[in-house]
Amino acid sequence: MRRLILPFVVTLGLFGCEPNQQVVEGSLEQQIDSLMSKMTLTEKIGQTAQRGTSSRVKGALSEELKTAVREGRVGSLINVMNKEFVDELQRIAVEESPNRIPLIFARDVIHGFKTIFPIPLGQAATWNPRLVEDGARVAAVEASTYGVRWTFAPMLDIARDPRWGRIAESPGEDPFLASELSAAYVRGFQGKDLTDPSSMVACAKHFVGYGAAEGGRDYNTTIIHEPLLRNVYLPPFKKAVDAGVQTFMSGFNELNGVPVSGNKFLLDQVLRQEWAFDGFVVSDWNSVTEMIAHGYCEDEKDAAFKAARAGVDMEMTSQSYDNYLEELINQGKLDEKELDRMVRSILRVKLRMGLFDQPYRMENEDAILSESHLEKAKQAALQSIVLLKNEDGVLPLKSSQKIAVIGPLANAPLDQLGTWIFDGDQDDSVTPLTSLLDKLGKQNVNSVPGLGFSRDRSVARFSKAIRAAEQSDVVLFFGGEEAILSGEAHSRAHINLPGVQEELIKTIRAKTKKPIVLIIQAGRPIVLENIINEVDAVLMAWHPGTMGGPAITDVLLGEFNPSGRLPVTWPKSAGQVPIYYNYKNTGRPASEASFVGIDDIPVGAWQSSLGNNSHYLDDGFRPQYPFGYGLSYTSFAYGDLNISKDTLGSNDVLKVRFELTNTGTLPGAETVQMYIRDHVGSITRPVKELKNFQRVMLNPKESKVIELTIDSSDLKFYNAENQFVLEPGQFSVYVGANAQSSIRKDFWVK
Ligand code: NOJ
Repeated sequence: MRRLILPFVVTLGLFGCEPNQQVVEGSLEQQIDSLMSKMTLTEKIGQTAQRGTSSRVKGALSEELKTAVREGRVGSLINVMNKEFVDELQRIAVEESPNRIPLIFARDVIHGFKTIFPIPLGQAATWNPRLVEDGARVAAVEASTYGVRWTFAPMLDIARDPRWGRIAESPGEDPFLASELSAAYVRGFQGKDLTDPSSMVACAKHFVGYGAAEGGRDYNTTIIHEPLLRNVYLPPFKKAVDAGVQTFMSGFNELNGVPVSGNKFLLDQVLRQEWAFDGFVVSDWNSVTEMIAHGYCEDEKDAAFKAARAGVDMEMTSQSYDNYLEELINQGKLDEKELDRMVRSILRVKLRMGLFDQPYRMENEDAILSESHLEKAKQAALQSIVLLKNEDGVLPLKSSQKIAVIGPLANAPLDQLGTWIFDGDQDDSVTPLTSLLDKLGKQNVNSVPGLGFSRDRSVARFSKAIRAAEQSDVVLFFGGEEAILSGEAHSRAHINLPGVQEELIKTIRAKTKKPIVLIIQAGRPIVLENIINEVDAVLMAWHPGTMGGPAITDVLLGEFNPSGRLPVTWPKSAGQVPIYYNYKNTGRPASEASFVGIDDIPVGAWQSSLGNNSHYLDDGFRPQYPFGYGLSYTSFAYGDLNISKDTLGSNDVLKVRFELTNTGTLPGAETVQMYIRDHVGSITRPVKELKNFQRVMLNPKESKVIELTIDSSDLKFYNAENQFVLEPGQFSVYVGANAQSSIRKDFWVK
């Protein structure tokens, strides 16, 4: 049931008063003018302050905070974890503060609020913007009932390094896929109408480059030259602006020597001037004052000055604006007009949200974990699962088979939810073990975890697990990472299965020879080099969320034919990282023909580079699995590739047609992928770039002619002068099942 929550004092009937909120009229900009004309300097600075605490603090509201709100010294709050506190603070703001300006309550609602969807990297593996939009909508409907009208999502950092813990939150490595998902997230969170109390303002983060942290170590330095920035890292953010995103977050990282929270080029030139963004920018948590540790600012005052000058409108948690903006203005260092611009942006968003008319949350408890939300979460989990290996058709399982359920993640309700789930509750999770028992009955399932948690190093329970395997026809090994091993500040140097999971798998294999299906739940691709030959099938389930168990079970039993595709390249070893499909060819491109392996080199060989190319002697140049890869229980064939013309003009469209056939025996969905290559450029161009994709459902033996198009503008890129250009010359178009397997046609741009 949806009902409007009046200010809590009224709800509680303590006073019979009506909300005494600010009434603003006129056009949006006139309303801002009228508000601004009444605001003192302190109140203006107040709007730039986002106060809040850790999500773990659930105690009473401090008097100091209430006073700050009452005095108009707070614009937004993060992590008010209790909805009664939200009501109380909002009431103080709209009834007692000088200009009665409502607060915006923010939280990290990253992949669900109470109904948890797969981690964003898992959602990216669906290659299905519709599902991503649905997930964001569900999150907004649930979170807004708790008063959260602003989420710090979507995270749009292109990530090429799975050591980086935050790859879990990212849309993957590709700018095109990430851009499609970016728009879907914004549509879902913000809904059709921002004034709808069930809509949540989205925040495109972390602007920008954070995912390129050197060595995959969180918070680390990033160095990205401008054409690369514009061609790879910026597009998903631009797409968010085009989709109407209202806020941006400046990242923790420094980019090319300047921390983003002090980076005028990014926040002003690119974001506001080039893209005409008129919402507001919030800093990341303390990232303004962290510019001191970066060695970019002398002290807090300097940090406040540089952040404000660069274009950070609201400061998250640190209070340098509160402490120093007034002084900076009074000293004539910062023009008050600059502050006015910041405050205007914040008020603009608050007005667009309709907060002045409707500052209170809409109670809608019935929506929380509703059947339809759980069904959407299950759909997302189903489509996120990637089948990586399936020797001898070990999957789907046969109904007559007795199964052993082994491994630390078969029944790990918290871990399956993944990183960033402040409001998710493990008691709502349905684990794989629960669903398998439900579907198959106790008599067909031998469940022995063997390990207590993913990092467990104890071998004490190995023998029990082996016994369970011996008594079964097939072993389901639920391995991976606990949720806490990925996400912010959780980078890893070794990205294989932690603890002694590999040893347990090897021991089961050696002792029982039973077929093993490895089901991975993790926040990143996991290096499988030591065990890939010990297992018969591998399913990547990411951290699949509340409905992970039923989704994994449906895939294992063949009730759902897996259709997930990798949104990142899956490395063979951590030593191959960074590894991504849209790399540059180099002057000595690697190839199977030229490859020299470490054991091919004679002992005492004469120093020579001849015969060697851009590869590793010990790990070659191919990943374990390429970008876009994923198997199905059926098979698909691509053929009859035709293009509508050989030569393309500057305002032209190329039609690309091909035939897709389901050559197997089951219905299934294929995600067809179209890539291009620009062979010669004024700066070197990637060997492949994704330009389109489509999910196609086919019955056995069914064929379909698929048509995708390439607009000449899709072939443009930022050159060394940072101009967006279409350069004449030879191009190739490829269609296929992933970045490595495809059929090709060439065409020319004149
Ligand atoms: C730090 C993280 O980098 C950011 O993504 C998050 O939104 C803020 N903290 C707020 O929790």
